[in-house]
Parts: sequence; C-alpha cells; structure tokens
Amino acid sequence: RLQWYYVSEEYGFVLPEPLEDLPPYYQPWMEIAKNVTELIDSHSLRACVQKMPLLETHLLQGHRELRLAHLTLSVMTMGYVWQEGENDTVKVLPRTLAVPYWAVSQKLGLPPILTHADAVLANWKKKDPQGVFSMENLELLFTLPGGKSVHGFFMVTLLVELAAVPGIRAIPEVINGVNQGDVTMVTRALESISLAIDCMREALKLMHVYVEPAVFYGIMRIYLSGWKDNASMEDGLVYEDVQVEPMEFSGGSAAQSSLLHCFDELLGVKHEASSGAFLTRMRSHYMPPAHAHFIQDISLSRPSLRDFVLDRASEPLTSAYEHCVAKLVALRNYHINMVSRFITVPASRAKELRLRGEGSGEERSTIAQAPTALEERGTGGSGIMSFLKTVRDRTRGVSVSPS
Ligand code: ALA
Repeated sequence: RLQWYYVSEEYGFVLPEPLEDLPPYYQPWMEIAKNVTELIDSHSLRACVQKMPLLETHLLQGHRELRLAHLTLSVMTMGYVWQEGENDTVKVLPRTLAVPYWAVSQKLGLPPILTHADAVLANWKKKDPQGVFSMENLELLFTLPGGKSVHGFFMVTLLVELAAVPGIRAIPEVINGVNQGDVTMVTRALESISLAIDCMREALKLMHVYVEPAVFYGIMRIYLSGWKDNASMEDGLVYEDVQVEPMEFSGGSAAQSSLLHCFDELLGVKHEASSGAFLTRMRSHYMPPAHAHFIQDISLSRPSLRDFVLDRASEPLTSAYEHCVAKLVALRNYHINMVSRFITVPASRAKELRLRGEGSGEERSTIAQAPTALEERGTGGSGIMSFLKTVRDRTRGVSVSPS
C-alpha cells in the first residue's frame, strides 16, 4: 500500500533514481542551472535568465521529468532572487522563468520555490551506481553557493531520509496490527520505528563532519530562504505573466520532509496552534501531494494507536510506544542543538563582527555577510528556536505515562 502514495519500499520519500537530463529542447535551462554558482559569483545570472528563451512545458513527460524541471527552475530562481544578497533583491521574476516554473509547479502540486522535495529528494546521483549510499558515493545534480558544505547539507539530509525507510515501512504494520487487535504485531512494528528514528539521529550527526557552520550560516542560508515571513522580501515576488499581484512562498524547511509528520500522526502528537499551523501549511502546500495524502491517511486511521496502547495496557506494547516517543524527542533535541551550532552561535559572532569590525578577513567575508533577516528565523520563516522547542515539548506530551 505504500506504492499508492508514491512512497517507495526501498527509498521511502526519496525520488528513486532521479533523471539527470531533460530532453535537448530544454538545454537553455540546463546550461544556466548547472552553472548557477559561477554565474552568481560573476554577478551575471540575472542577465542570463533575462536573455533565456521562453520554453514550452508540454514536452515534459512523466513524474521524473517534471521533478527534474522543477529542480532546475528552482535553482535558477533562488540564484536569481538572492544573487546580490538581502539588500538588493528583485520585485519580479521574469517571464522566461516565471511562466514555465508556474506551469510545472501546477502539474506537480508543488509551490514555485525550492523545496525539500527538490533540493534533497530529487537532487542526487550515485557515482558508482552499484555502490552504497554514502557521502563519498553521492553527488548532487545541482548545487548553490557554499561549495562542499552544500553537498554536505543536502546529502546528509538525504541519508536521514533513507535511514527512516524501515520505520516508514513499519507504519502500515502498526495500523493493520491495531485494526486486527494484534498486540504483538504492533509492538514489533513500533520497535522497528524506534530503531529507525535512532538511525536518523546517527545519520544527522554527519552534518558536523560535512557542513561548516560559518559557510552554512554566512553563505548558504539565504539561497534556501523564501519570500514569505522574510523582512528582506516583504512584498513577496511577482511571477511575471502569471499574476499581476506579488505572491509569497516560504523557503526550505525540515518541516517539508514528510518523515516526522508521519511519526507525529502515528503517535498522536498534538501540536500547539501556531507551530501546528506552520506544519499544516508545509504539509498542504510544500510537499508532493501523494506524500501529504499518506500522512493524512495515517492521521485518520481508527482506533488510534495511542488509544489502542491505553486500552490494552500491555507492558511490552506500552514500553514500545514510549520508546518511540522518547526517540523522537531525542531526535528533536539533537536538531535543536544543531540549530544552536549552525545558526545561533554564528549569528552572535556575526553581530559581534559587524559591531566591532573585528575578525580575520576570511571569517568576516564568510560569516558577516549573512542576511540579518534570517538571524532569528529559519529559512522557512518560523521563529526557529521557539518553534522547535514547542514542537519538542508537544512530542514529549504524548507520552502515556508522563513523568
Ligand atoms: N531551515 C534551516 C535553516 O533555517 C535550513 O537554516
């Protein structure tokens, strides 16, 4: 039944074997998108996009071609908007980009901005196709400014998605087990889920090895950020020849990954109003619709897992459920710590550098150029720390034997 939702037994929410090339007609897009970092460095991306021909989208066939087209157009758009940093943004995305981007987005049910489904789920290739999924054997199809740390950030996130797959496969077992009243089956499936969440945290640790905080904070984040809840793009963005009024779209966020939405719904986590609204918006508009549908069906299954656990009062079942909750809290705590190392600490360093004008040339040119609009916000626009802590606390709150 996972297949009904375009969820793969082997890859979970990751797009299996993404295409690397579009039909030759789309060469003008490919040429620009493949060279986005160089074009940004030389401040010529905007000029290139303006000269780009307006291409038709009806020659794109099938889901994987559309996903590659969306990724290609997303990379160009992020580069176009943020080429000159937060103080020299644009009001209009030119029609050569806006018109096809809008059409492809409509077909996929994704927003016309770079999302997790683009940058992570559909942006990978194995160097040796027979080889394993490892940092060394993985390559990005498209990159953005930030050098190796960009590869690190997206590919570590990909490994987290893959680490979760056994847990995703266990979700239907939990639901079927609850329906059949099979305590042993549910207990066993929950044990697979806590193991998977542990593996996700292990995979996430690689972020410290492959991503440099100064580069992430000072260079990369702006290219992941959007034009909603962002003080440097307060008016949003006009998609030329699509709509006269500007539109607002959120930048990339871990909340766009379907993984934790699934586990939250399965365990019965109830989010607080404002963080819940952000999560719901990400689910409804910023992930592939089939995946959102999967999450929705988990949330609708009755009786709920939590009621089943309370009702049966079986020791092994209760402890398997509690284990899942504890692992999920631990993962969220780990994420919070990571945000302090990659965002909070560099943010105060950047402030210091700007105020006192100190620091070596290299540090200044990396960290101090960070956008001030993103100091206390996630690239998705949330008030990042309070958001993550509220979500963590609500996760803790679902425990059936609160301490
Ligand atoms: N959402 C992450 C950030 O805020 C990527 O930087």
